[in-house]
Amino acid sequence: MLLSKRQPSSAIQWIEKAKYHKSREPYFKFLVNPHIRYAAFLFVFLSLWFLLHVFCFPPTKTRPLPETQYATTTVAAVSTATYEVHQNPKTAAKSSSPKCNGRVSVYVYNLPPEFNMGLLDDCSHLNVYTNMCPHVANHGLGQPLDNMDLASSDSNPWFATHQFIAEMIFHARVENHPCRTWDPAKANLFYVPFYGGLHVSSKFREQNHTIRDALAFKLIDYLQDQPTWHKHNGKDHFIALGRTSWDFMRTDSGPDFGANCLLNLPSVNNMSVLTVERNPWKGSNQHGIPYPSYFHPSTLDQMLTWQRMMRQSNRPYLFSFIGAPRKAVDKAAIRDEMIKQCMESTRCKLLRCDRGNPQCYNPSEIMRVMQESQFCLQAPGDSFTRRSTFDSILSGCIPVFFSRHTAYTQYAWFLPEEASKYSVYMDEQGDESKRIEEKLLKISKEDVERMRAKVIDMIPRLTYAHPNASRSDLGFEDVVDVALEALAQHVRNKIQDNLATAESR
Ligand SMILES: *[C@@H]1O[C@H](CO)[C@@H](O)[C@H](O)[C@H]1NC(C)=O
Ligand SMILES: *[C@@H]1O[C@H](CO)[C@@H](O)[C@H](O)[C@H]1NC(C)=O
Ligand SMILES: *[C@@H]1O[C@H](CO)[C@@H](O)[C@H](O)[C@H]1NC(C)=O
Repeated sequence: MLLSKRQPSSAIQWIEKAKYHKSREPYFKFLVNPHIRYAAFLFVFLSLWFLLHVFCFPPTKTRPLPETQYATTTVAAVSTATYEVHQNPKTAAKSSSPKCNGRVSVYVYNLPPEFNMGLLDDCSHLNVYTNMCPHVANHGLGQPLDNMDLASSDSNPWFATHQFIAEMIFHARVENHPCRTWDPAKANLFYVPFYGGLHVSSKFREQNHTIRDALAFKLIDYLQDQPTWHKHNGKDHFIALGRTSWDFMRTDSGPDFGANCLLNLPSVNNMSVLTVERNPWKGSNQHGIPYPSYFHPSTLDQMLTWQRMMRQSNRPYLFSFIGAPRKAVDKAAIRDEMIKQCMESTRCKLLRCDRGNPQCYNPSEIMRVMQESQFCLQAPGDSFTRRSTFDSILSGCIPVFFSRHTAYTQYAWFLPEEASKYSVYMDEQGDESKRIEEKLLKISKEDVERMRAKVIDMIPRLTYAHPNASRSDLGFEDVVDVALEALAQHVRNKIQDNLATAESR
């Protein structure tokens, strides 16, 4: 691609030069001079090269090269807010290219803006705890980080990405995805790009349940009006949520922590729901997707370079713990235990996050600690899962889990089936979790190296690639590629089962 872009203009220069020589010399005589002979050879060679490119890769816009799409985006971005750019169908339409594997064909609903982009207009009130404006920038990647390794490359892959923003990145990636279709008749997946997580967090303090749930009901009304919904009763539809399923499954019996009822609605139960934390007991239609970390590469080269660096990273600490103690949460008692054990050990690095320790909000500090550790403790916190699990894997640090629901029952599409190949498990009720260092020291050096190699191999599938990068640039399968592929398979089975039961009736 580089050649086809740059070569023709330099080839033209060469042709001009060579023509000049030719016109001043008698026929063929110039070939006696070795310099001229060399130039003539170059002339012929480059002419052929040039012709080859002109005829095989005409420099028109018939082939949707990714660069073309970037260029269009840049021009559009000057006049419109960046987050509107990828909604423009004309821009995105060019990305439908032959690079899709053929098993996935995803249709994206053009929802009224109140369900996604429109919510961003009031980004300072999207979350009752923080101003989300810096976090929703760059399609949800957040602000670029300039103090990281590889940050000086052409496209800096590092962003201070918010942990609960997967829904925006997912949306931006699907809109640019080579498997996107504009024809509902050709689709086997229907994506409903609702920013449910951003919306629910803006209503956590809303006391009136009718108001808190209103947008969820409105979404259902919208979907019921679509002819495409009724073909399979929504079984081929999905949403992706950047927050945990608990935020959308309000129960009347439990304490009210601000959740709405989205995932309890019958229509939503017919859809597939992608979420960073599924309900392991009541979430048969829920599928775990990774929390976004900070690394969003646009090329395979960036990915391979990073993996190589993590293989070579010097890891003086046996284990580390990054986190805060939790007050009055039974589930998190294990955290106090970890902090105590880590403080008592000379082989543990502790990054205590209470009292607003700024190091804990500094991605380069977090990544540095994890890159220098062999094992990273993943304690459950407010819920079972943690974004930190994915930061740890990105750093080549082997995760240590204390609950099966932190990863094993969550991310079946993304993690190897055999947990012991890439992680250590210590039951939080059991004895082992009382002697973490002892248990980790018992693992042989060879096993540690095998596990670490596995962890580093897993990085691409657990990474949200930069939404600007199309799959042809990527050269690896990222979270969105893996999710769409698994979802298409899942939906195929679901619809077949449905047809089978309908026929047997
Ligand atoms: C995508 O690429 C264009 C052109 O390089 C750039 O202007 C835009 O900011 C990029 N988008 C993101 C989310 O970085
Ligand atoms: C909640 O809001 C709805 C709609 O605005 C209203 O009709 C209802 O009376 C409110 N309920 C309470 C308990 O305030
Ligand atoms: C859910 O799917 C079933 C068929 O499996 C259908 O009977 C039902 O009407 C669907 N529910 C909604 C709300 O579409």
